[in-house]
Amino acid sequence: MYRRATQERDSGIESILDYLMEKRGFDFSGYHPAMLERRIGHRMITAHCSNYHDYLAYVKDSTSEMDQLLDAITINVSRFFRDTLTFEVLAERILPFIVHEKIRLGDRSLRIWSAGCAMGEEPYSVAILIHELLCREELVLDVHIFATDIDARVLKDALRAVYPVSSVDHIKYRLLIKYFTQEGGSFRLVPEIRQLVTFSLYDMLDTKHCVPPESIFGNFDLVFCRNLLIYFNPKYQQTIFAKLHHALARNGYLILGEAEAPTLKYQRYFSRVLDFSPIYRKR
Ligand SMILES: C[S@@+](CC[C@H](N)C(=O)[O-])C[C@H]1O[C@@H](n2cnc3c(N)ncnc32)[C@H](O)[C@@H]1O
Repeated sequence: MYRRATQERDSGIESILDYLMEKRGFDFSGYHPAMLERRIGHRMITAHCSNYHDYLAYVKDSTSEMDQLLDAITINVSRFFRDTLTFEVLAERILPFIVHEKIRLGDRSLRIWSAGCAMGEEPYSVAILIHELLCREELVLDVHIFATDIDARVLKDALRAVYPVSSVDHIKYRLLIKYFTQEGGSFRLVPEIRQLVTFSLYDMLDTKHCVPPESIFGNFDLVFCRNLLIYFNPKYQQTIFAKLHHALARNGYLILGEAEAPTLKYQRYFSRVLDFSPIYRKR
């Protein structure tokens, strides 16, 4: 009886995932099953559907449910300077080190990738830090920040760069008034920072391109892949770590989310820089 219910649940979820794949090209088969069950279940309650079969019929019929479901599965929660300590370490230690090394070696190009960038809070946060550093030290570098996500809708919002208070409440007041203009209850990021970031659609499970095509060749000094790996099963995490490793320049830095770490196979390819912050360096 229990086995039958489990099988029905699995095949129900599978047919929903197949439909999303067919219609939108998203492959969610590598996501944690419990997470998918929870997120789809949440949509089913809202849509008043008691089983997966009815819910799939509802998704097919409705004009908006597919977008709602994709939103529920991809969870785009982020904020500026999320994980304060990690961004402090970046500002005080990692970025100055990278920038000074560049200057010392006569390499004028700084390349950064934010993978799973949501509405741009993460790439814009690092853009602010770099802008501060270069202005303070009167240095000039070509800064290229590539920011990618699987969700076209969040990328549109990222380009608009207008944020609610809840997205900016971790920003130091000095930076908030310097880099944002207030519009009613929202905060608009200034063009000076926006122009540092290039946004594009890119699936971290894409097997055709090992780096986002817009970046052309990877060779990143710094890659952010935070709060995205947690959604994937170990097999797909492995695929993503292969991609991250390939995308990084020699000795490049990888920043993960607080609950994330390299898979067993990739532990030897990265050394952890600090005990208290998920910052790694490619060996
Ligand atoms: C929880 S947000 C994390 C945002 C930001 N990195 C942070 O830590 O605040 C996860 C993001 O990963 C994106 N995402 C999920 N699956 C993805 C995939 N296969 N390829 C690229 N992005 C994906 C989601 O659309 C979402 O915007």
